[in-house]
Amino acid sequence: MHIHKYEKYFLVFGVGTLVAFLIILGIGAFHQGSHPNSGKKTLDYEKVKEIAPFDNPGVHKVEGKDWDYEVVILASAFYYNPPEIEVPLGAKVKFIATSEDVIHGFEIAGTNINMMLEPGYVSEYVAEINQAGEFLIVCNEYCGTGHTLMHSMLKVVD
Ligand code: CUA
Repeated sequence: MHIHKYEKYFLVFGVGTLVAFLIILGIGAFHQGSHPNSGKKTLDYEKVKEIAPFDNPGVHKVEGKDWDYEVVILASAFYYNPPEIEVPLGAKVKFIATSEDVIHGFEIAGTNINMMLEPGYVSEYVAEINQAGEFLIVCNEYCGTGHTLMHSMLKVVD
């Protein structure tokens, strides 16, 4: 009964492949971490208001860095702190943001600046501000009843 022998062989081979696949999957998941943003800086979001730089949201001029301004943003349902951002035209700006409660978005309409703000994680984006005007900042992640009201403004002054 050679056929049975081959069936057995293929069965073992099949199970072995499955086990190998699961091991690879397991290692892969472990290696990348269970969180989708393992590469980001983390913090204790419940104490975020006491943790620098989020203890001082707003626009800060900086020296000796690759950017001129740091804009620290703390998002919560359903506000941004600061409620308005003003930077001069041509400034290189690093946006540093997080959420103190649920996932929020931070999209500056008409630009390619679009970040997801997650509690416990720091989102950063460096951009050169090369267009004067007022840009609406909107939350593009559904965050609750006040989601559609959640907005801020970027003012770029010449
Ligand atoms: Cu915050 Cu939607």
